[in-house]
Amino acid sequence: MNYEKFKEQVLRKTGINLSSYKERQMKRRIESLIKRCNFDNYQDYFNAITKDDVLYNDFINYLTINVSEFYRNPTQWQVLKSDVIPYLLENNGKRKLKVWSAACSTGEEPYSLVMALSEFFNLREIEVIATDIDKEVLNKASIGIYSPKSIEHTPDKFKKKYFTKTGNSYKISEEIKNCVKFRSHDLLKDIYPKDCDLIICRNVLIYFTEEAKEKIYINFNSSLKSNGVLFVGSTEQIILPHRYNFKAMKTFFYKKVN
Ligand SMILES: C[S@@+](CC[C@H](N)C(=O)[O-])C[C@H]1O[C@@H](n2cnc3c(N)ncnc32)[C@H](O)[C@@H]1O
Repeated sequence: MNYEKFKEQVLRKTGINLSSYKERQMKRRIESLIKRCNFDNYQDYFNAITKDDVLYNDFINYLTINVSEFYRNPTQWQVLKSDVIPYLLENNGKRKLKVWSAACSTGEEPYSLVMALSEFFNLREIEVIATDIDKEVLNKASIGIYSPKSIEHTPDKFKKKYFTKTGNSYKISEEIKNCVKFRSHDLLKDIYPKDCDLIICRNVLIYFTEEAKEKIYINFNSSLKSNGVLFVGSTEQIILPHRYNFKAMKTFFYKKVN
């Protein structure tokens, strides 16, 4: 079995389309994982993951690269608070915002969003949809226990208010958790939520091919309300935003052009 065949088999078994991820990077990662698990080739490794659930889950976890943290790139969260949320409120007649955190990993990003929104709304008015392709990270997200390192950039007032220390970990409060609806979603094939005011999708587009990214930008654009905003990761600026009906609003923030 070569890499092409392996990709086909993985698609059949998991629904994950490896062809939409940058090939060189993905192939190198998978080959190093195969070696690390002491297999000699794609075929033996594929047979093993089809029989052994632990190996299978390790494979999915490894593929999806789940690192995250609260308030990742803090200056961008400052801009969200000082410029983007006020703009969205203005645009929306100060009504409740529909917010989607796509590829949310273990929950740090949607929970940071709820805290950011809590400066503008009562918690009971906030609902963030948070999605990821990997069910295991979504499980961790709903448990909501984090390392000290991962909450490092969280503003102190929120650390005090919304986290409880248990041993060497921090548990996010139920009131923040209640504002987030987690569900599984593959950006490459599932139907996107509609009428969003804000979509935050960071540190996943870098793994996709140009072709896959283009489709995702088009889908994000249709998911947004007019004047809605897309917030991307710090290495994920959109090269020609107007091609997808976006206009740069601030660095890393794009407004839907009507
Ligand atoms: C590096 S994490 C980013 C987490 C968070 N957005 C952040 O910036 O801190 C990338 C996430 O993308 C998810 N992912 C990978 N491929 C995906 C796909 N096709 N659809 C949805 N999520 C995907 C992974 O499971 C992983 O949780």
